[in-house]
Amino acid sequence: MKVLLVGSGGREHALAWAIAASPLVERLWCAPGNPGIAQEATCVPIGATDIPALVAFARENAVDLVVPGPEAPLVAGLADACAEAGIACFGPSAAAARLEGSKAFMKEVCAAAGVPTAPSATFTDAEAAKAHVRREGAPIVVKADGLAAGKGVVVAATVAEAEAAIDAFMRDRVHGEAGAAVVIEACLVGEEVSFFALCDGAHAVPFGAAQDHKRVGEGDTGPNTGGMGAYAPPPAFTPELERQVMAAIVQPTLAEMVRRGAPFRGVLFCGLMLTEAGPRLLEFNVRFGDPECQVLMLRLMSDLVPAMQAACDGVLDRFAVRFEPVSAIAVVMAARGYPGTPVTGSEIRGLDRAAAVPKVRVFHAGTRAEGGRIVAAGGRVLNICATGTTLAEARDAAYAAIDAIDWPEGFCRRDIGHRAFGR
Ligand code: AMP
Ligand code: GLY
Repeated sequence: MKVLLVGSGGREHALAWAIAASPLVERLWCAPGNPGIAQEATCVPIGATDIPALVAFARENAVDLVVPGPEAPLVAGLADACAEAGIACFGPSAAAARLEGSKAFMKEVCAAAGVPTAPSATFTDAEAAKAHVRREGAPIVVKADGLAAGKGVVVAATVAEAEAAIDAFMRDRVHGEAGAAVVIEACLVGEEVSFFALCDGAHAVPFGAAQDHKRVGEGDTGPNTGGMGAYAPPPAFTPELERQVMAAIVQPTLAEMVRRGAPFRGVLFCGLMLTEAGPRLLEFNVRFGDPECQVLMLRLMSDLVPAMQAACDGVLDRFAVRFEPVSAIAVVMAARGYPGTPVTGSEIRGLDRAAAVPKVRVFHAGTRAEGGRIVAAGGRVLNICATGTTLAEARDAAYAAIDAIDWPEGFCRRDIGHRAFGR
């Protein structure tokens, strides 16, 4: 099989590693990739959202399967363009990717399907949104409708804060057209878990859960990031909860998407809040999480490629995915300044020493190769990942590898996994 992976982050490096390990794969390309991915795949200089160029490359090289990593190409119609060209694509159509691309749409689907989620209202008028906030009181959550690179959600502790968020999104358009509408919803309390299901339009197979660490600082302080680390499995997410989420969230959503003529294929990422009243859906994403994907891939025993093929073929009902009963951890090393403006261009040394620590795997995110050196080229730069029979073992291995890395301009959180240890 010939596979084209799309993206350039740590998630895509983990996917490249899992795909390259499949005996079914004879060629693997990645557009645009990164220096770590180049160890597993042939990188081609095509941007992740350059849909015509991606499809042309897939055609010219007789690609059998396209695997989009991030959401942007999906929202922009990569799966639709592949379908037109007769190429299998492990990802949803643009119509189905609206589950992530529009929070108002996601809420509409949840309401129609009876999916448990925070009560909400959608507004296209800022004054009406503010009047609603004043009626409801704080704490309250304000969300920009569209994609905002993870920055479109404000959990407001006061009415004034919520009103300021509405002005920033709707009047000042700090996230552009993503703020043309806002969703205002009730603030839920509980532990957050990322749960993943492979979907073929009609059927879904659980693909495990992980817990992300979204804040930049230790003890979950400071601004939100794309994710500073993850671990799996999260002890709070019991097999019984998984059954509940499959039955009450994933299955009804798939049925509702079929009813709307937009069946969902690919990986459905359920951002969950485990509240006292049961699991509640915070958000859908239409792709793997980053860095959650890294820990899922480290635990995966099954071949990923036939699972993705089965999703494309609509035969996931005949499929099961097996995970190793180990713990896995991913610690993100970021460039100083992240999540603001990161300082790029600094050299990273000691990557070989880190990778030599037993049970450790290093996935690249924002790196660049410069004449034999690896330099920082983004905010989140490296994922230092490890497995262990216990989470403590995995964590100790990951931090031992981090200590072997010589990169004064980088930083990481030292407390990844703390919610599991604090139990
Ligand atoms: P989202 O992009 O919708 O997942 O929101 C980003 C983050 O905001 C989530 O990971 C939660 O930490 C927080 N959040 C979103 N919705 C709510 C809610 N209804 N109640 C409390 N926190 C929320
Ligand atoms: N780590 C959260 C995300 O990928 O959206």
